[in-house]
Amino acid sequence: MTDTARPEDLLTRVGLFSTLGRVELAKLAAYLEPVEVQTGREVFRQGEAGDSLYIVTEGALGVFVASGDGRSALRVSTLAPGDLFGEMALFTGEPRSATVLADRPSTVLQLPRERFLLLVRREPAISLTVVATLSERLRTANQARVEHADFVAAAIEQALRRLPGERREAVLEASLLETMTPAGLRALFGSRAEPVAADLAALGVDGSAGRVTVRGLREWFERELGLDGVSARASSVAARLAHAGFWNDALGVLARVSTSALFAETLGRALRAVPALDADHARRWIERVDDDRASRNGDLALTRALLHEARGDAPRALGVLRRALGVALVGTDPATGQRLAAEIARLSNSRAADVAVGLRPASDTPPSPGWRRLPALLSLGAAGLATVIAAWPGAGALWTFVWLLATAIALLMSRVVPDFAVALALITGWVLLGVAKTPAALAGFASKEWLFVVATYGLAAATARSGLLYRIGLLLVRRLPHGVIWQTATLLLTGLVLTPLVPSSTGRASLTSPLALAVAEALRLPERGRSAALLGLGTWVGSGPLMFAFLNGSGTCLLAWGLLPEASRARFSWVGWFVAAAPLAVGLAVASLVVLRAMLRPEPVAELPLRRVSLQVAMLGPVAPREMGTIAILVVTVGGWVAAPWLGLDLATVALLGLLATVALGTFDRVALQSLDWSFLIFFGTVLTVGRLGATVGLDRAAAATVDRLLGTAQPGPLLFVLTVAGVSLVTRLVLDQDLTVVLVGITLLPVASRVGVEPWVVVIALLATSVAWFLPSQTPSYLVAQSASEGRLFSHEQAQRFAVAYAALTLLGLALSVPYWRLLGLV
Ligand code: CMP
Repeated sequence: MTDTARPEDLLTRVGLFSTLGRVELAKLAAYLEPVEVQTGREVFRQGEAGDSLYIVTEGALGVFVASGDGRSALRVSTLAPGDLFGEMALFTGEPRSATVLADRPSTVLQLPRERFLLLVRREPAISLTVVATLSERLRTANQARVEHADFVAAAIEQALRRLPGERREAVLEASLLETMTPAGLRALFGSRAEPVAADLAALGVDGSAGRVTVRGLREWFERELGLDGVSARASSVAARLAHAGFWNDALGVLARVSTSALFAETLGRALRAVPALDADHARRWIERVDDDRASRNGDLALTRALLHEARGDAPRALGVLRRALGVALVGTDPATGQRLAAEIARLSNSRAADVAVGLRPASDTPPSPGWRRLPALLSLGAAGLATVIAAWPGAGALWTFVWLLATAIALLMSRVVPDFAVALALITGWVLLGVAKTPAALAGFASKEWLFVVATYGLAAATARSGLLYRIGLLLVRRLPHGVIWQTATLLLTGLVLTPLVPSSTGRASLTSPLALAVAEALRLPERGRSAALLGLGTWVGSGPLMFAFLNGSGTCLLAWGLLPEASRARFSWVGWFVAAAPLAVGLAVASLVVLRAMLRPEPVAELPLRRVSLQVAMLGPVAPREMGTIAILVVTVGGWVAAPWLGLDLATVALLGLLATVALGTFDRVALQSLDWSFLIFFGTVLTVGRLGATVGLDRAAAATVDRLLGTAQPGPLLFVLTVAGVSLVTRLVLDQDLTVVLVGITLLPVASRVGVEPWVVVIALLATSVAWFLPSQTPSYLVAQSASEGRLFSHEQAQRFAVAYAALTLLGLALSVPYWRLLGLV
């Protein structure tokens, strides 16, 4: 590799990233911070804490390890462009093992720890590269050591043979110590400490080769006494040290040459001694005792639990404490039992508090008690009851149909049975109970609507694989005006533009939220600060709640479209839908930005450093022929949807032609086909059948008659009706999921629409506009994705919740203001 390679060329050649595609590399580039290092300057120092990995892109750097006394440093390696360093501290959590400084002006790319670990988790092959690097380093180090050790062993042998027996024994015993301090030697040898220290100094133990000498002494000792002999001697040395209160030194000796039982027993005594072993050392030594052994001793258990707690593993800490409590009670040690019980209580309370404030997901709490499962059990019970009623002899097709539908809804609400299984069960029920013959029970799957959905999902999968969407986002961020509010508007618009291309709110949220995070990081916005929240929530609005602007904006829109009567479906094809829905969507987008800005009052921020975005664009390389092809297919397909009515084609045929073109291009293959959400597609096909079958058995007429009876002579105006639909939807969403709300409220209220002079499509829009709610964190999956894809670093749920309330109010206002426009279009 040359010294002056461009970062984007270099990254593709770094062994570490060889398994990543261009899109992944571009995403990664958002987190790589170029750092310039002048000649002789350090990147980091040996002994510092390490939180980043580095990749050399330019220049040369030396790796230096300090001698034992810290007085000199040895160069162990030289790094060239393409090499990585700083990985050891990331993996082990230990301090930096060496100092790295520049031999000449150099540039390195810094990758933060979390990003690196995320990458390793997602791309396990990356760890192979790191292991290869480490193995190579180890091999070189082993070779150097062997050459050195032979030389040292000969020198030590000679020196030891010259010492009289007793002094030789003392020197060898001293070599078992971790560090040979004068105090430690006095504790071990009493008045003989000084001559021993002098003998050690003569052997060179305190010089620059001290560690090598000590290792040589220990190896000699082992050859003389055998492993068991050394172990016995170590026990006696440790006992003398412990007796003098040198617990840390005693544990150091035992940790290397003794049994784990003796080590644990000594540590237990050290923790209880007066004065006890200090906390730092206790923490270090408790790592060597496993949970099982720690649970057998109250003091060890308490210390081990603190270690787990400090690492954020409270369940494991509680496990150790509970087992130790059992041991203490059996062993009738009430004092220790009390301490353990108090600690268990403290830990349980702080855990409950963490869950309550959302620091810790409730999911890692122990299995939920029976009463938490009550709603699911009740739903399953209701489903069973509804099935029995549906199967009651002589119920009639209409009532069997209604009760089977009730069974399906109860099953969906239980959240125990997956959607697709409920759908299949419903079809089976219709056929078995004689509501419909098999072809009619599967009619939804033979419809144009179902084919349209399959084809648009296919097109979306093909587009996602081409890297095109990421490029569009980056270009938008780069080209449009700067400043947080404008960046937010850009990202919101990105989500909106992607809506007809990626017909899934979850998919869009997972594309645009990381982009927003990258922008926030490039701008160095404080996490969950006002500007970051503005960026995150604005981006979310573009990717989720505004989906209703397009017929194929999300699976839910398509579901709702499938529920419309045939005449409305014909009237609202792609263009008709967009024209009627766009003003509300645009109004809500603008109003959201205004409200967010007023609510959050973002702090002023620096300019966006475009260097990094440019690096990301460069990583993607020139537009590949496949991307070009994908762009062409998308443009022609969307154009086809617009022109479909004039061409005499339907939407499904246009979408299928587009999908076939992506097959020809090679972006939609067997793997892409399998990656489609077939669970949703089966559910969707069945919902389409529900609409058709409902009309066949007379459900629409029965519903309209019931409403007539209920309304009597009252005649609600269109405005009141639209707001009622929206209100019912908002409330229903508090208990039911998005699709279920749209289907249920849709089936119930659509027949009423014509009765009050409102086009059913208006009901659908009122439903869809209010169906994405995020008052409660788990209400909407795509909201959760928006939050987690930005790693929870852009906005807190409290910030989002306040905005959710404002957004709901804006939606109601928007719907009210849209009524005159829809009247103009002849829809009300
Ligand atoms: P880390 O311990 O995080 O910080 C110092 C880095 O220097 C270390 O990771 C390795 O990347 C690198 N390093 C340490 N020892 C050697 C060696 N013997 N040869 C090459 N590189 C090394």
